[in-house]
Amino acid sequence: MTRPISPFWPFEWWLAWWDAWGPEPYVAPLTDSGQARTLARLHATAFARPWDGHEFERMLCERSTQAHALWRAGSVQGFVLSRKVADEAEILTVVLSPSVRGGGLSRRLLREHLAALSLAGIRHVHLEVDEGNAPALRLYARHGFAKVGERTGYYTHKDGGRTTALTMRATLA
Ligand SMILES: CC(C)(COP(=O)(O)OP(=O)(O)OC[C@H]1O[C@@H](n2cnc3c(N)ncnc32)[C@H](O)[C@@H]1OP(=O)(O)O)[C@@H](O)C(=O)NCCC(=O)NCCS
Repeated sequence: MTRPISPFWPFEWWLAWWDAWGPEPYVAPLTDSGQARTLARLHATAFARPWDGHEFERMLCERSTQAHALWRAGSVQGFVLSRKVADEAEILTVVLSPSVRGGGLSRRLLREHLAALSLAGIRHVHLEVDEGNAPALRLYARHGFAKVGERTGYYTHKDGGRTTALTMRATLA
Protein backbone atom coordinates (compact mmCIF):
# COMPACT_ATOMS: atom_id res chain seq x y z
CA MET A 1 0.00 0.00 0.00
CA THR A 2 1.35 3.44 -0.87
CA ARG A 3 1.91 5.69 2.12
CA PRO A 4 -0.04 8.98 1.86
CA ILE A 5 2.17 12.01 1.45
CA SER A 6 2.34 13.93 4.71
CA PRO A 7 1.44 17.63 4.49
CA PHE A 8 4.60 18.18 6.57
CA TRP A 9 6.93 16.43 4.12
CA PRO A 10 9.08 19.49 3.37
CA PHE A 11 9.60 19.95 7.13
CA GLU A 12 10.29 16.21 7.68
CA TRP A 13 12.71 16.19 4.77
CA TRP A 14 14.49 19.20 6.18
CA LEU A 15 14.72 17.58 9.66
CA ALA A 16 16.18 14.39 8.15
CA TRP A 17 18.67 16.45 6.15
CA TRP A 18 19.62 18.47 9.25
CA ASP A 19 20.16 15.26 11.29
CA ALA A 20 22.45 13.85 8.64
CA TRP A 21 24.28 16.96 7.44
CA GLY A 22 23.70 19.71 9.99
CA PRO A 23 26.50 20.85 12.30
CA GLU A 24 24.81 19.47 15.45
CA PRO A 25 26.54 16.21 16.49
CA TYR A 26 24.44 13.16 17.22
CA VAL A 27 25.02 9.55 18.27
CA ALA A 28 23.64 6.54 16.39
CA PRO A 29 24.22 2.78 16.57
CA LEU A 30 26.59 1.27 14.01
CA THR A 31 24.74 -1.78 12.79
CA ASP A 32 26.67 -2.83 9.71
CA SER A 33 30.25 -2.92 8.48
CA GLY A 34 29.83 0.00 6.04
CA GLN A 35 31.93 2.37 8.18
CA ALA A 36 34.73 -0.14 8.90
CA ARG A 37 37.39 1.76 6.95
CA THR A 38 36.44 5.06 8.59
CA LEU A 39 36.74 3.45 12.03
CA ALA A 40 40.17 2.07 11.11
CA ARG A 41 41.29 5.53 9.98
CA LEU A 42 40.11 7.12 13.24
CA HIS A 43 41.66 4.33 15.31
CA ALA A 44 45.02 4.89 13.60
CA THR A 45 45.03 8.52 14.77
CA ALA A 46 45.17 7.37 18.38
CA PHE A 47 46.96 4.05 18.77
CA ALA A 48 50.44 2.72 18.03
CA ARG A 49 49.01 -0.62 16.86
CA PRO A 50 45.89 0.32 14.92
CA TRP A 51 43.31 -2.26 13.86
CA ASP A 52 42.74 -2.45 10.12
CA GLY A 53 39.48 -2.15 8.17
CA HIS A 54 39.05 -5.94 7.94
CA GLU A 55 39.32 -6.23 11.70
CA PHE A 56 36.56 -3.62 12.17
CA GLU A 57 34.47 -5.28 9.46
CA ARG A 58 34.70 -8.60 11.29
CA MET A 59 33.85 -7.04 14.67
CA LEU A 60 30.90 -5.04 13.32
CA CYS A 61 29.40 -8.23 11.85
CA GLU A 62 29.53 -10.11 15.16
CA ARG A 63 26.32 -10.20 17.19
CA SER A 64 28.30 -9.77 20.40
CA THR A 65 29.55 -6.36 19.25
CA GLN A 66 27.77 -3.15 20.20
CA ALA A 67 29.01 0.01 18.50
CA HIS A 68 27.94 3.64 18.31
CA ALA A 69 29.18 6.46 16.12
CA LEU A 70 29.26 10.19 16.70
CA TRP A 71 28.13 11.88 13.50
CA ARG A 72 28.55 15.49 12.52
CA ALA A 73 27.92 17.13 9.16
CA GLY A 74 27.48 13.79 7.42
CA SER A 75 30.63 12.06 8.64
CA VAL A 76 31.69 9.84 11.52
CA GLN A 77 33.70 11.92 13.99
CA GLY A 78 34.12 9.24 16.64
CA PHE A 79 32.99 5.84 17.78
CA VAL A 80 32.86 3.44 20.70
CA LEU A 81 32.86 -0.32 20.40
CA SER A 82 32.11 -3.00 23.02
CA ARG A 83 31.90 -6.75 23.15
CA LYS A 84 29.06 -8.34 25.15
CA VAL A 85 29.14 -11.70 26.92
CA ALA A 86 26.12 -12.67 29.04
CA ASP A 87 25.44 -9.67 31.31
CA GLU A 88 28.97 -8.26 31.02
CA ALA A 89 30.60 -6.09 28.37
CA GLU A 90 34.08 -4.84 27.62
CA ILE A 91 34.66 -1.49 25.99
CA LEU A 92 37.29 -2.28 23.37
CA THR A 93 37.91 1.24 22.16
CA VAL A 94 36.62 4.82 22.20
CA VAL A 95 38.05 7.31 19.73
CA LEU A 96 37.22 10.82 18.58
CA SER A 97 38.69 12.41 15.49
CA PRO A 98 41.62 14.66 16.51
CA SER A 99 39.72 17.62 15.03
CA VAL A 100 36.91 17.32 17.62
CA ARG A 101 38.91 16.23 20.68
CA GLY A 102 38.95 18.58 23.63
CA GLY A 103 35.27 19.53 23.47
CA GLY A 104 33.77 16.80 25.65
CA LEU A 105 31.85 15.14 22.79
CA SER A 106 32.89 11.71 24.05
CA ARG A 107 30.60 12.21 27.06
CA ARG A 108 27.53 12.03 24.86
CA LEU A 109 28.92 9.11 22.87
CA LEU A 110 29.71 7.05 25.97
CA ARG A 111 26.47 7.99 27.75
CA GLU A 112 24.32 6.76 24.87
CA HIS A 113 26.48 3.66 24.44
CA LEU A 114 26.18 2.70 28.12
CA ALA A 115 22.43 3.32 28.03
CA ALA A 116 22.13 0.94 25.07
CA LEU A 117 24.25 -1.67 26.86
CA SER A 118 22.00 -1.37 29.90
CA LEU A 119 18.91 -1.81 27.73
CA ALA A 120 20.53 -4.92 26.25
CA GLY A 121 20.75 -6.42 29.76
CA ILE A 122 24.39 -5.62 30.52
CA ARG A 123 25.12 -5.08 34.22
CA HIS A 124 28.91 -4.75 34.42
CA VAL A 125 31.23 -3.00 31.97
CA HIS A 126 35.01 -3.45 31.96
CA LEU A 127 37.79 -1.61 30.16
CA GLU A 128 41.53 -0.98 30.10
CA VAL A 129 43.06 2.46 29.86
CA ASP A 130 46.55 3.89 29.82
CA GLU A 131 47.28 5.35 33.26
CA GLY A 132 48.61 8.50 31.58
CA ASN A 133 45.52 9.13 29.44
CA ALA A 134 44.00 11.98 31.45
CA PRO A 135 41.00 12.78 29.17
CA ALA A 136 39.99 9.11 29.01
CA LEU A 137 40.38 8.63 32.78
CA ARG A 138 38.21 11.67 33.42
CA LEU A 139 35.63 10.47 30.90
CA TYR A 140 35.42 7.02 32.47
CA ALA A 141 35.31 8.35 36.04
CA ARG A 142 32.40 10.60 35.04
CA HIS A 143 30.49 7.52 33.89
CA GLY A 144 31.01 5.56 37.08
CA PHE A 145 34.12 3.54 36.23
CA ALA A 146 36.48 2.77 39.11
CA LYS A 147 39.91 1.18 39.07
CA VAL A 148 39.96 -2.54 39.86
CA GLY A 149 43.56 -3.42 38.91
CA GLU A 150 46.57 -2.62 36.74
CA ARG A 151 48.85 -4.24 34.18
CA THR A 152 52.40 -2.94 34.25
CA GLY A 153 54.02 -2.27 30.86
CA TYR A 154 50.86 -3.29 29.00
CA TYR A 155 50.84 -0.56 26.33
CA THR A 156 53.56 0.13 23.77
CA HIS A 157 53.74 3.71 22.52
CA LYS A 158 54.82 4.93 19.08
CA ASP A 159 58.25 5.85 20.55
CA GLY A 160 58.64 2.27 21.87
CA GLY A 161 58.06 3.26 25.52
CA ARG A 162 55.76 1.15 27.66
CA THR A 163 53.11 2.24 30.15
CA THR A 164 50.76 0.68 32.64
CA ALA A 165 47.12 -0.13 31.89
CA LEU A 166 44.51 0.44 34.55
CA THR A 167 41.61 -1.99 34.51
CA MET A 168 38.29 -0.34 35.39
CA ARG A 169 34.76 -1.47 35.98
CA ALA A 170 31.33 0.16 36.15
CA THR A 171 27.99 -1.25 37.24
CA LEU A 172 25.05 -0.13 35.13
CA ALA A 173 21.70 0.80 36.59
C1 LIG B 1 39.59 9.99 25.18
C2 LIG B 1 38.81 10.87 24.21
C3 LIG B 1 37.72 10.02 23.53
C4 LIG B 1 38.16 12.00 25.03
O1 LIG B 1 37.57 12.89 24.13
P1 LIG B 1 36.96 14.35 24.49
O2 LIG B 1 35.50 14.25 24.71
O3 LIG B 1 37.41 15.28 23.44
O4 LIG B 1 37.64 14.64 25.89
P2 LIG B 1 38.13 16.04 26.46
O5 LIG B 1 39.44 16.41 25.88
O6 LIG B 1 37.00 17.00 26.35
O7 LIG B 1 38.44 15.66 27.99
C5 LIG B 1 37.54 14.89 28.77
C6 LIG B 1 37.71 15.35 30.21
O8 LIG B 1 39.07 15.20 30.60
C7 LIG B 1 39.59 16.46 31.03
N1 LIG B 1 41.00 16.54 30.60
C8 LIG B 1 41.46 16.66 29.34
N2 LIG B 1 42.80 16.70 29.35
C9 LIG B 1 43.18 16.63 30.65
C10 LIG B 1 44.44 16.65 31.32
N3 LIG B 1 45.59 16.71 30.64
N4 LIG B 1 44.46 16.52 32.67
C11 LIG B 1 43.31 16.42 33.38
N5 LIG B 1 42.06 16.40 32.79
C12 LIG B 1 42.02 16.51 31.45
C13 LIG B 1 38.73 17.50 30.36
O9 LIG B 1 38.78 18.72 31.05
C14 LIG B 1 37.38 16.83 30.41
O10 LIG B 1 36.88 16.95 31.70
P3 LIG B 1 35.33 17.29 31.98
O11 LIG B 1 34.56 16.11 31.48
O12 LIG B 1 35.26 17.48 33.45
O13 LIG B 1 35.03 18.53 31.17
C15 LIG B 1 39.72 11.52 23.12
O14 LIG B 1 40.74 12.25 23.76
C16 LIG B 1 40.36 10.53 22.16
O15 LIG B 1 39.77 10.13 21.17
N6 LIG B 1 41.61 10.11 22.48
C17 LIG B 1 42.32 9.13 21.66
C18 LIG B 1 41.79 7.73 21.86
C19 LIG B 1 41.82 7.31 23.32
O16 LIG B 1 42.75 7.60 24.06
N7 LIG B 1 40.75 6.58 23.74
C20 LIG B 1 40.58 6.14 25.11
C21 LIG B 1 41.28 4.89 25.41
S1 LIG B 1 40.55 3.50 24.62
